[in-house]
Amino acid sequence: MSLEESKKLVLEKNLRHVAFIMDGNGRWAKKKGMPREYGHTVGAKTFKNVITYCYECGIECVTVYAFSTENWKRSEKEVSALMKLFSAYIDSAYEDLSKNNIRIYFIGDRARLPQALIKRMGELEEKTAAGKRILNIALNYGARDEILHAVNTLLQKGATSVDEETFSKALYTADSPDPDLVVRTAGEQRLSNFLLWQAAYSEFYYTDTLWPDMGKEQLDKAFAAFGGRVRRYGAVVE
Ligand code: FPP
Repeated sequence: MSLEESKKLVLEKNLRHVAFIMDGNGRWAKKKGMPREYGHTVGAKTFKNVITYCYECGIECVTVYAFSTENWKRSEKEVSALMKLFSAYIDSAYEDLSKNNIRIYFIGDRARLPQALIKRMGELEEKTAAGKRILNIALNYGARDEILHAVNTLLQKGATSVDEETFSKALYTADSPDPDLVVRTAGEQRLSNFLLWQAAYSEFYYTDTLWPDMGKEQLDKAFAAFGGRVRRYGAVVE
């Protein structure tokens, strides 16, 4: 598909929010005889290319699963390499985000992240707050943790009963539409504690492509697959 065709599909099929489970960095590096951290370094470049293409195609909101609440179980070397990548991105992202009218949100429980990082995350969120498109980076994110956080926030505010809208607004993704499409790379077909509430009606696209190899061609395939789906939301479509 050409860029024009992808843009048309995004518009016609109302593809507003795409969420990515960026899997396979480790396997990609291993195949090349390189350390896992190298896979993440290349994966971070892929992340930038992927989001750029999504916004070029007219997608309004992109969410990426960068670090889960379970990822602390990895070696200290790997966790530290990932934190350095996040830190470098946060320090360099502003120009690109503001140029493209993108508002960044870090979704997840920040408390366990390095203090200096938390501060700069907050600053970047504030500096980009006028942006009309959204980029959610899930850092120390777990959907069950998010749901419990929302429940506890509502209870603390005195709620005794809530509706779907109020609950959605208590999640970290309060300002984002629900994802229309969830893409997972590297062959695994599971949600892994990602956007459990928000993905209730999402379409899923799985590819064997490892995250560092994701590019326009693979994204076009995912968008085309989405274009071919009939979204029924439980109703009957004739
Ligand atoms: C899963 O692949 C990937 C991660 C846990 C990290 C994802 C992080 C990035 C792509 C970097 C993003 C950077 C920014 C700035 C947002 P894996 O390591 O579990 O791969 P494997 O299953 O092959 O071992």
